[in-house]
Amino acid sequence: MTARPDKRDPASLRPNTQAVHAGNAIDPGSGALRTPIVMANSYALPDDPSTMDWSGIDVMNYTRSGAVNQNGLQRKLALLENGEDAVALASGVAALHAVFFCFLKSGDHVVVADVAYEATWRLFTELLPQKYGIHATFVDMSDLGAVQAAIRPETRLVHIEAIANPTTKVTDVAAISRLAHEVGALLSIDNTFSPPPLFRPLDHGADLVVHSLTKYINGHGDAMGGAVIGRADLIERLKRDAMVEVGGVISPFNAWLIMRGSVTLPLRLRQHCVAAQLVANFLDADPRVAFVAYPGLTSHPQHDLATRMLHGGFGGMLAFAVDGDPEAQNRFVSNLRVVTSAVSLGHDESLIVHVGTTGARVATYPDEFRRWGHLRFSVGLEDPDDLIADLSAALDATFA
Ligand SMILES: Cc1ncc(COP(=O)(O)O)c(C=O)c1O
Repeated sequence: MTARPDKRDPASLRPNTQAVHAGNAIDPGSGALRTPIVMANSYALPDDPSTMDWSGIDVMNYTRSGAVNQNGLQRKLALLENGEDAVALASGVAALHAVFFCFLKSGDHVVVADVAYEATWRLFTELLPQKYGIHATFVDMSDLGAVQAAIRPETRLVHIEAIANPTTKVTDVAAISRLAHEVGALLSIDNTFSPPPLFRPLDHGADLVVHSLTKYINGHGDAMGGAVIGRADLIERLKRDAMVEVGGVISPFNAWLIMRGSVTLPLRLRQHCVAAQLVANFLDADPRVAFVAYPGLTSHPQHDLATRMLHGGFGGMLAFAVDGDPEAQNRFVSNLRVVTSAVSLGHDESLIVHVGTTGARVATYPDEFRRWGHLRFSVGLEDPDDLIADLSAALDATFA
């Protein structure tokens, strides 16, 4: 028999219940049911602070070292991702940079997914090699032979995305973790496209999970944040180096907003998955659409892998193009009346962005993405029938 669930012990709770209760506590001062926002920069010191570790972590003396709202959020994120600890930082990019900065040094080699979030790609093609002499090999993670061939004795990190931005390529995390661990490299995974309960990379052999909290975990498009989750010793290094020493800490207000948004994460994800599948099916069946990339379509190259890896759906992100030149893609977007043209993803509202055909990074995309550019679509929480009607009307107007 499983232990009786008790919110005083969040580890005893199922993931949906953890999303509601973990990291929150009745405020001892006021009796308020939700942890209040504590904006203070400093906390009262003990009677004799002379032996205090001034730049220690979780000492509660200064907000950059750990504070009420970020600590609560970190506890929840650790539980949701089944990690020992978590660090919450100012943005997803701050979290990615924290991993690369803390666990790599000059001369180290990294193996990175050939298609990954743009800032990751730029960090490994520009800043990290130029400033720190850290060199990356970019590999198609669906080709395990190529991954094995790219990993060298001096490889210290393999970095992937469970579902890649923007191609939606799905990576076999367990297989890549075996290859990384053979040479003692860490495996870090940007799980922004497939947050829990959809996918929990630590259960599949990853060492570190990175999130842009700005996206699904907050879910409301009104706060930026990032996080890394993993073993306590790895997170301690991140807290010391990236949070206390470099100062990439999240603000208490953003931590509070993201804590509130994350309460409905499992519920929202379920709807994102349902709506994205309906939208993908609709687009896939329309001859005016040139291609659709969505892991839930049987035509997706990693559909079987995604079916085995993901729980409860295939996420809310898809990419497609209408059958026409870049001008037609723009006409289509400007004809939408419910879906908004904007960057970011994982918000409550649907967002679409036309990514063009120029730029060095686009050369790494599959052929269909390079022909006319692609439309990256973050399917929101609107009624799927409204979304489909909007897409349908925009297609009619574009091809009239
Ligand atoms: C997969 C992925 N990782 C990380 C980031 C960076 O997150 P942030 O914008 O919070 O810095 C993004 C942003 O789009 C993303 O899509």
